[in-house]
Amino acid sequence: MRSKTLPPLSEKQMLWWRDAKFGMFIHWGLYAIPAKGEWYMNNEHVPVDQYRHLSEQFNPQRFDAAQWVRIAKDGGMNYMVLTARHHDGFALWDSASSVDNFTSSLTASRRDLVKEYVEACRKAKMRTGLYYSLMDWRIPGYYKPHDLPDSADQLKNQCYGQVSELTKNYGKIDVLWYDGGWLNMQGSDADAAWLWDPVRLNKLVRKANPNTVINPRSGWEGDFDCDEGGAAVTGPIKPRPWEKCLNLNKTTWGYNRTQNLMSFDEIVTMLVDTVVRNGNMLLNVGPDADGVIPSAHAERLREVGQWLKKYGQSIYGTRGGPLEPVEKQYGTTQKGTSIYIHAFNCASGQTLGLPPIDKQIRKVTVLTGGKAQIQQSKYATIIHLSDLTPDGPDTIIRLDWGKVKGR
Ligand code: GLC
Repeated sequence: MRSKTLPPLSEKQMLWWRDAKFGMFIHWGLYAIPAKGEWYMNNEHVPVDQYRHLSEQFNPQRFDAAQWVRIAKDGGMNYMVLTARHHDGFALWDSASSVDNFTSSLTASRRDLVKEYVEACRKAKMRTGLYYSLMDWRIPGYYKPHDLPDSADQLKNQCYGQVSELTKNYGKIDVLWYDGGWLNMQGSDADAAWLWDPVRLNKLVRKANPNTVINPRSGWEGDFDCDEGGAAVTGPIKPRPWEKCLNLNKTTWGYNRTQNLMSFDEIVTMLVDTVVRNGNMLLNVGPDADGVIPSAHAERLREVGQWLKKYGQSIYGTRGGPLEPVEKQYGTTQKGTSIYIHAFNCASGQTLGLPPIDKQIRKVTVLTGGKAQIQQSKYATIIHLSDLTPDGPDTIIRLDWGKVKGR
């Protein structure tokens, strides 16, 4: 029998995720060996048997999950999501349900990499997420589910088995991030709900791991919405929890010998544009075949982490608002008795004209350096900026409306 409904997590259960703001996505699998991205098997029409040979070469000697966690922490990231299994069907763990035993424990490395990752995250108190792609390019029923119902059943059984393994055998999983719900390379995640029966699937997840934050891409609405890719974040503040996921290396999610990294300014701008609209940002890295996050990725993240060390108060634990963002100009976040204005392209001598704020502002501080004076009226908030010492693309102005120390 089909289960029809499953409520999303409560606000209380979502609180840590809402406050976390910034996470690390990791695309890693056999595809790191040919180094052409995670779609290599499909893009280059590699036959299943041939692709399987990659597992004999897979021996990531330098994979050290603790090091990944350190890089995420240095980047100011508060959760991590690892591709436990991508569309190629290769499981990074010792998966009993894997069709034809396509797992990391049967590779040259003979390691349960998910286990190592989960343990390293927990040890460092890092929130732990797993990505799972429902589809599997190896299974014929994926392409012709109606003509090959037995094979489509095998695909579905593998999915139920593997999702159970991941959510039952590895302790507390903070995020379950589905992908690839569509069939035969067409349509949307929701189109294939007839096959996956996602409400039933996610009820099993909830039973094993009641607080796991689940994304919407299994065809069930999930606990948050997804905005995928590098396009700018625009529009108003969104009431429902949502996440922007994108790639640090703009070439592909999985390791690619062509590297084209987002700049520091691009990352900070995207993060700010996301947070002022009440979202989280999940930024992807692609470790190489040896299990190493490229040093250029780590370095770029460290730059962002340094920025967050200085200005994290205006990001972490905040909520979007009180003012609606204006594209390419400004957005606001708030926490307690502080309002943070994140303004782009500011210059000394500039006056920012904003809508009225219904709080008596007692103190104005330019966190990124400089001076500001405020005039409030029923109709507008005017801020005069001077002596700015820019530190990145974002000028951050804190407005305090509570009791101010020393007054
Ligand atoms: C798309 C891509 C996939 C990637 C995912 C990340 O679904 O097909 O390769 O893992 O986006 O959101």
